Amino acid sequence: MIYFDNAGGSQVPRVVADAMHDYMLQSYVQLGADYPMSRKCTQVVEDAHTFINLFMNGTDTGKVILGSSCTQHLFMLAECYAQVMRKGDEIIISRMGHDANVCPWKRMEQRGFTIRMWEIDTETYSCPLEQLETLLSDRTRIVALPHVSNMLGGIVNVKAVAQIAHRVGARVVVDGVAYASHRAIDVSGWDIDWYIYSTYKVYGPHMSAMYGKQSALEEITGPNLDFIPKGEIPYKFELGGVNHEGCAGLLALGKYLNFLTGRDADDLCDRQTIEEAFDIITALELPLQQRIIGYLLAKPGVSVVGPNHGEASRVATICFRSESVSSAKINAAICRANIGARHGHMYAPGLCEKLDIDLSDGVARVSLLHYNTMEEVERLIEVLEEIL
Ligand SMILES: Cc1ncc(COP(=O)(O)O)c(C=O)c1O
Repeated sequence: MIYFDNAGGSQVPRVVADAMHDYMLQSYVQLGADYPMSRKCTQVVEDAHTFINLFMNGTDTGKVILGSSCTQHLFMLAECYAQVMRKGDEIIISRMGHDANVCPWKRMEQRGFTIRMWEIDTETYSCPLEQLETLLSDRTRIVALPHVSNMLGGIVNVKAVAQIAHRVGARVVVDGVAYASHRAIDVSGWDIDWYIYSTYKVYGPHMSAMYGKQSALEEITGPNLDFIPKGEIPYKFELGGVNHEGCAGLLALGKYLNFLTGRDADDLCDRQTIEEAFDIITALELPLQQRIIGYLLAKPGVSVVGPNHGEASRVATICFRSESVSSAKINAAICRANIGARHGHMYAPGLCEKLDIDLSDGVARVSLLHYNTMEEVERLIEVLEEIL
């Protein structure tokens, strides 16, 4: 099988799977008690938070909250803000968003908040910063956007977005799901308030991580039980606690990043290792995305839905359409060849409508990661040659 459905979820390295297996068989007890094994488990969960915070480069600026999915985190975050915002306060939502970072905010309209859509330029497949400036007001509290659209693949300059939004004191909520498997996250360097990604798309277990900047964490209250103090973070935001074996898996990701950079698996995985590992990941992906996009662009009647180049300012999540063959048919041919891929609206129905894409047929998508190979890409191209 060829795995080209990585924007849906990545594969896990054996060290991650082994760590979860070993944790469950060797130390599967509850946290927070005084006996040695419970202390050990508590430490694993704490260490996983610390490591993921380093992974996002938020160690000195904020904290990481773990949860079950990005969708769950974003609905929780919206609910927390609904408790502290005033009627008439404004929320700006990027048109490029996956519905996980659209619906939670859009629903707040029913509660008296004002929603403003940040529209997409359908030529460049980006939401222009100048338009964001015109949408902002002194009532803007939230700007919600994806770092990369899981349909378009272009990388958004979130640092510039944060600079603009912060001028009026708005919080920036970045959905990093489609970015995090391809490039190193740097919440401090970009000055992001909230950054969320799904760990199952980044070589890990089926969980999600949400970084909150310290000042942002202080302005809302997490929903966990009443006896838990507001300042007890992350617990106040982790309803009932987190997936313990998943935490063991998250920690083991460091071993894989060490391996990618040629270090010993058991070395300390520091920030430099993380950045080097993602430079290697990027370098491995670039030729693959260039080959696919180059092939698609040369094909008459076929269009790439997203930036039409294979450069590093986009990732290897590639959507396309044909004038003569439906996306469903293209995808069926790909899947028949035992290549994992998908078609449809990619959970971004609002974006599809703006791009005039039929919601039921949508786009065909192949999404690659560093472990894919040029041979696999050539096999895909053979299949596409036949169906297109
Ligand atoms: C860009 C993007 N945002 C959010 C999500 C939702 O993530 P989760 O499955 O963790 O809720 C996805 C899932 O595919 C996604 O691709």
